[in-house]
Amino acid sequence: MKKILVTGGAGYIGSHTVVELAQAGYEPIIIDNFSNSEESALGGIQAILGREVPCHRIDCGDAEALRQVFKTEGDIAGVIHFAAFKAVGESVQKPLAYFHNNVGSLITLLQVMKEEGVENLVFSSSCTVYGVPDHLPVTEATPTKPANSPYGRTKQMCEDIVHDAAGAPDNKVHTILLRYFNPIGAHESAKIGELPLGVPNNLVPFITQTAAGLREKLTIFGNDYDTPDGTNVRDYIHVVDLAKAHIVAVQRLLDRKASEAVETFNVGTGHGNSVLEVVATFEEASGQKLNYVIGPRRPGDVPAIYADATKSAEVLGFKTTTSLRDSLASAWKWQQTLSK
Ligand code: UFG
Repeated sequence: MKKILVTGGAGYIGSHTVVELAQAGYEPIIIDNFSNSEESALGGIQAILGREVPCHRIDCGDAEALRQVFKTEGDIAGVIHFAAFKAVGESVQKPLAYFHNNVGSLITLLQVMKEEGVENLVFSSSCTVYGVPDHLPVTEATPTKPANSPYGRTKQMCEDIVHDAAGAPDNKVHTILLRYFNPIGAHESAKIGELPLGVPNNLVPFITQTAAGLREKLTIFGNDYDTPDGTNVRDYIHVVDLAKAHIVAVQRLLDRKASEAVETFNVGTGHGNSVLEVVATFEEASGQKLNYVIGPRRPGDVPAIYADATKSAEVLGFKTTTSLRDSLASAWKWQQTLSK
């Protein structure tokens, strides 16, 4: 079994990816500092897999601790690097913390991978690198625009760092950059899912917490955009579908099938849905009436973005299989489990 190191493996996307890796016959090893994740995720992973997954409680910006993990584990075949701060609004308040953590940990990881001779990396990027795109859907060749937040800038900088590192004459690392669209939902077992700290920033946890009575109402941030119903359009991908994209990417790297030292793929469904469509689909999937109001626009929101998923389909053979309705139903099931 090939060992795959998963930084941020106790987080939302990380925990689902750890489960998919194990079920695909890999041996995942988690690194997490639990700054924005909970120990309970490890219990959920164990409950699904029927066995424990090793976890190293370190910060991956700590080069010495990281080195020790590589040495102790030995024979690491590849790394999936999720560990990062991810809240857009918070990044405006604490930009230096975002640059230090997100950019710093990638640099440290690349250095240690080089020292230890580990050659395969999957990096969590984001559709935020496209900024406000001129044309939809966005392909991987769509030019990136100025990011809307320090968070977005860290993802752009990390992509640049990966490209520059790959251009060095002694580089041996092959990287796949996965640009995620909006991950939602939870594992069908409802043993792992999203665990937002405090008031959720993201739409779907806010919806499920409102339906569960933890929040009074959802505020929809603007209905006067130039979109079919005036609300923002996003590409919502089920988190298990997204997790599976990592398995395909890791396999491609291990098989040495990558055509370049750095390859980039959109990971989305290829469909856009408006906020009002998400609300209506949630109501239908859950049987719950959602209390919502229309409020002002949220600064920094892109009016509409969704993926052209052709390249991931043709090159990676990756396609999403979960509908928006089933994704929202899984989010609701998870919320009900949490509420219990
Ligand atoms: N929304 C509301 N009310 C809320 C929360 C969100 O109307 O209470 C709307 C937003 O305005 C947006 C949509 O729901 O139109 C989705 O918002 P999210 O905050 O869930 O997601 P974003 O599209 O803003 O952000 C996501 C990721 C970021 C990433 C970004 C790139 O969370 O990490 O996509 O576009 F940077």
